[in-house]
Amino acid sequence: MSYLLLYSTQDGQTKKIITRIAENLRRTGIECDLRDLSTVIQVNLMPYQKVMVGASIRYGHFNSALHNFVIRHQKQLNQMPTAFFGVNLTARKPEKRTPETNAYVRKFLINSPWQPDLCGVFAGALRYPRYRWLDRTMIQFIMRMTGGETDTTKEIEYTDWEQVDRFSEEFLQISCDKEPQE
Ligand SMILES: Cc1cc2nc3c(=O)[nH]c(=O)nc-3n(C[C@H](O)[C@H](O)[C@H](O)COP(=O)(O)O)c2cc1C
Repeated sequence: MSYLLLYSTQDGQTKKIITRIAENLRRTGIECDLRDLSTVIQVNLMPYQKVMVGASIRYGHFNSALHNFVIRHQKQLNQMPTAFFGVNLTARKPEKRTPETNAYVRKFLINSPWQPDLCGVFAGALRYPRYRWLDRTMIQFIMRMTGGETDTTKEIEYTDWEQVDRFSEEFLQISCDKEPQE
C-alpha cells in the first residue's frame, strides 16, 4: 500500500505538518512518498492508493503550484481517495479552523474542479524574526487588526498536533473503493 503526500510551503510549516502525517501513516505499515508541489510538474498518480495535498496561504492565496496541479490532475484525483488541507494564521482561532469556516479553504473548495473526500484546516506558525522587513510589517499590521500577536521578536507555532494526528487517522479510514465518476 503506497500513498502520495504533496505539499506547497513557503516557510516550512506545511512540510512539517505533512511530515508528521507521513510518520503517522508509516507507523501503520503504509509507504508514503512525500513531494514538494513546486518541483512537481506532471506526476503519475496511478501507483498510489491515496493522495493527500497540503498547502499554505500567503497574502490571501494558495501558491499557483497547487492550482496548476489540480487543473492538470483533476480527473484522476476525483476518481481516487484524496484529502486536502490548508494552513494559515486565520485558523489560529478555533472557530476559523474548519473547511466551512475558514474563508481560504471554503473558497478553494467552491472553485476547485477537484473535490477531496477529506478536508482539513490547520493553524500555521508566526515567525516574525524570520520574515523580511516588509512581510514582518504587513503581518504585524494584520495581527493588530485581528487581535493577534504583535511582538516582532516572537515565534509562535499555533498548529494543533493532536488535530493533525486525528486527520491522519481519518485519512487512513477513507475507503479505497471509490465509485468512478463522470
Ligand atoms: C508573507 C506572509 C503572508 C501571509 N499571509 C497570510 C494570509 O493572508 N492569511 C493568513 O491567514 N495567514 C497568512 N500568513 C500566515 C501563513 O499562512 C502561516 O505562517 C503558515 O504557517 C505558513 O505556512 P508555510 O510555512 O508552509 O508556508 C502569511 C505569512 C507570511 C509570512
